[in-house]
Amino acid sequence: MASKMPACVIDVGTGYTKMGFAGNSEPSYIFPSAIGVKENVGRGMAQGVDDLDFYIGDEAMNTPGYATKYPVRHGIVEDWDLMEKFYEQAIFKYLRAEPEDHYFLLTEPPLNPPENREYLAEIMFESFNVPGMYIAVQAVLALAASWTSKKAERTLTGCVIDSGDGVTHVIPVAEGYVIGSCIKHIPIAGRDITYFVQQLLREREVGIPPEQSLEVAKRIKERYTYVCPDIVKEFEKYDKQPDKYFKQYTGHNRVTKKPFSVDVGYERFLGPEIFFHPEFANPDFKTSISETVDTVVQQSPIDVRRGLYKNVVLSGGSTMFKDFRRRLERDVQKRVDLRLKRSEELSGGKLKPQPIEVKVVSHAMQRYAVWFGGSMLAATPEFYKVCHTKADYEEYGPSICRHNPVFGTMS
Ligand SMILES: Nc1ncnc2c1ncn2[C@@H]1O[C@H](COP(=O)(O)OP(=O)(O)OP(=O)(O)O)[C@@H](O)[C@H]1O
Ligand SMILES: [Mg+2]
Repeated sequence: MASKMPACVIDVGTGYTKMGFAGNSEPSYIFPSAIGVKENVGRGMAQGVDDLDFYIGDEAMNTPGYATKYPVRHGIVEDWDLMEKFYEQAIFKYLRAEPEDHYFLLTEPPLNPPENREYLAEIMFESFNVPGMYIAVQAVLALAASWTSKKAERTLTGCVIDSGDGVTHVIPVAEGYVIGSCIKHIPIAGRDITYFVQQLLREREVGIPPEQSLEVAKRIKERYTYVCPDIVKEFEKYDKQPDKYFKQYTGHNRVTKKPFSVDVGYERFLGPEIFFHPEFANPDFKTSISETVDTVVQQSPIDVRRGLYKNVVLSGGSTMFKDFRRRLERDVQKRVDLRLKRSEELSGGKLKPQPIEVKVVSHAMQRYAVWFGGSMLAATPEFYKVCHTKADYEEYGPSICRHNPVFGTMS
């Protein structure tokens, strides 16, 4: 039974929560996945769910007397009591929705422990009394979001690179099913790039107030950085024509209210370069993102490999760097071509392997791709057919929510 009201779509990430109604092209609310609870109050009665004395989002970070907590770490919910409170304010205060009137589409990261689906179902059905809900895998939603690109096919087979604030995953998906055993995690995401930019600036720019340096680094990262084709040549370009490439960032000292300015130079291309040369930031980790993508596809079943190479899809804030797509496509293609050439040589020229095309898809909805994919799918009639309903939940219990059928390519 489909409800008349649009479904609510909520994607809670490590850094930010994206929330809104199905059918929209952008989330209505985006705020930090943070919750501020009264300091010095232990758990127990005073911290029950009925206690409304807490804040979420930006308010959770700036209210004196409240401790800021993050219920999600590396994409996975770690504190379900806090998570429930967080959802409560998110739904009632931000979205101003009556949960009894809406179906819900919620998201989960790859390799989410299945019991987490039960906890989420319990909160949704028992505390909020929702009529129906569906838990979607973020990577699958990101694939659906890429259908908006002219270059992409309407397929649920592809290799998703989801890079947010706390985590980057490379996730092969075949016909809507994540190939769990082949997922790889890369220990570099938005926060690491911000730290790296901060460190580069610290060595040179002394005028930045230390307590604002992280925020300044993040702004500079989001505004001025890009991926270059070749760092050696890029350094030369900057040295030859500094006026053309150096930028100036102006900020305001929060205490003295005086402006300060920062010269932004090599960090413009060195920041996101750590995806391709992680050892610049972390001497223990040397594998480039291009190598990881190639390995993930090579480890996947042979019959889907071509489909994966042909549809590498980008998702999340940290895939937004200019020319990230271009560099990744070029680097992965180089690796693939080299492998084919080697096997031809090894066969003494007898084997003439078919070329393999690598295509990395970038599109207008990439920043909030997971949310947008959810918004699109939850606006189809098919969505209501795959949801678990309150009646199912009551009859069979929370364990039915461990499984969520794939949908999206039929309609
Ligand atoms: N235009 C941009 N260029 C580069 N980075 C950006 C841009 N816009 C946002 N970011 C970065 O994207 C990150 C947030 O991305 P996103 O909202 O996808 O993460 P999340 O879903 O909260 O986290 P996760 O997926 O890791 O759980 C932040 O590090 C932010 O600085
Ligand atoms: Mg995310």
